[in-house]
Amino acid sequence: MMNKKDGETGNAPIVGRRIFMKRIWKILGLVAVAEFLFFIISLLRPSREINKSRSVLTLRDIGNVEDFPAGSVTPDRINRLYIIREQDGGFLALSITCPHLGCSVLWDEARQQFDCPCHSSAFDRHGVVLSSPAPRPLDYFPVIIEEGKVRVDISQGTRRRRFEPNQVTYAV
Ligand code: FES
Repeated sequence: MMNKKDGETGNAPIVGRRIFMKRIWKILGLVAVAEFLFFIISLLRPSREINKSRSVLTLRDIGNVEDFPAGSVTPDRINRLYIIREQDGGFLALSITCPHLGCSVLWDEARQQFDCPCHSSAFDRHGVVLSSPAPRPLDYFPVIIEEGKVRVDISQGTRRRRFEPNQVTYAV
């Protein structure tokens, strides 16, 4: 009789401790999940801010639409690019940097082509290779036309294999 009573009173604290420990583990689990979610959210939030500030910093005002006559090729030495205005009014922004070894290409108005002074590569007005050693066309940049302003995102220099009409931007 004494033993059973002792046993009952002896088990009660053990059961109570188990329940207590289960609750502690549940709370710790919830805290871990909350910390994980907070970590994920904090990872996402700064990256959005960085992308936003990057696009503001790298979007350059090049000029007004009417500053570029149809058929013109205009150098922008500050941003190291050329603005090509197509006869139909479209805009194409090309990198000034030769894709061979990085010299600056020069526009030859008479021959209607870009020439590289370093190793004589030549490119047509869309930046397509006319003569090697350049391994690919001049890179191009996205052009954005807003409220009559021509803007170029200089962070988005894009390699390409050929000229495609979708690389040309038109005012809406
Ligand atoms: S750097 Fe332009 S051809 Fe070599």
